[in-house]
Amino acid sequence: PTRKKIGLIGAGNIGGELARLVANKELGDVVLFDIPAKENFAKGKALDLEQNGAVLGYDSHIKGSSNWDDLKGADVLIITAGVPRKPGQSRDDLVAINLPIIRDVASNAKRVCPDAFVIVISNPLDAMVYEYKRVVGAPKEKVVGMAGVLDSARLQLFLAREAGVSVKDVRTTVLGGHGDDMVPVLGCCTINGLPVRQLIAKEKLDAIVDRTRKGGGEIVGLMGTSAYYAPATSAVAMAESYLLDQKRLLPSAVYLDGEYGYKDIFMGVPVIIGGKGVEKIVQVELTADEKAMLEKSAKSVQSVIDVVKKAS
Ligand code: APR
Repeated sequence: PTRKKIGLIGAGNIGGELARLVANKELGDVVLFDIPAKENFAKGKALDLEQNGAVLGYDSHIKGSSNWDDLKGADVLIITAGVPRKPGQSRDDLVAINLPIIRDVASNAKRVCPDAFVIVISNPLDAMVYEYKRVVGAPKEKVVGMAGVLDSARLQLFLAREAGVSVKDVRTTVLGGHGDDMVPVLGCCTINGLPVRQLIAKEKLDAIVDRTRKGGGEIVGLMGTSAYYAPATSAVAMAESYLLDQKRLLPSAVYLDGEYGYKDIFMGVPVIIGGKGVEKIVQVELTADEKAMLEKSAKSVQSVIDVVKKAS
């Protein structure tokens, strides 16, 4: 087969937007998968999206399914299976519900597409992607979590609006776990190379960092469910970098084996994603403050991973 197969596990809000983006970019054919109770929902969404292609002019096939055999040989899996947050909930509050779901997904994926490049989006992100890799026994190059691209995009937007410049000219990096103690690395944030610290007042920057950290919760508070447009676009940027061997440098949750001083944990760090998956974990010097923030974030991530490990 010459077309790539992209499996989207979870046909909900993010899953639907993922399918639309993947098809629109013609990255491959799509299998939009959900549980048997939602098979018709997935099939309906898939049909709607194929008809969308007749207007827009994309030829990707999109198939709704609840049969894991349809995922056989998938090149990429993007996993959103699970429940999203409701107002007042933290991502960590989802662990009890989403843990059995990620285990179910991982054991099936291990059988039908063990070689796929896998991007996990389900929350609590760092613990879910850790568990996925553990169950499948996949190499660390092939399993990543999507968080840093989204958190960086939020920071990018807030900085652009504050500075009154195009979002295109703002570059940002957010590291650490996908929780409220994530680490926006302001020293690395620029407006076309000019340091934001010289262009935006400290109090404004502090407020922007705080808003970024709570960026997911802000949307949950407004919509009653979690964000889906920007999360989907972020994951597709990662998938595209893999499929087209773009070697983009993107903050991603990856398995750390000593990098940044952490072992046996998934956490957001800058990585290069290319045709082999995670081709390099890029290590940069962090300030003492940033290291301390990363340590705090790592502790929160570890506490949820410990819950997951105990439940095994
Ligand atoms: N296998 C496949 N799909 C499943 C399974 C499973 N075992 N369990 C649940 N699902 C499906 C649900 O039926 C639902 O259609 O996952 C889908 C999730 O869709 P939404 O409820 O719309 O949630 P969404 O906004 O897409 O978020 C999904 O991503 O950002 C995270 O916190 C968010 O964990 C949540 C996930």
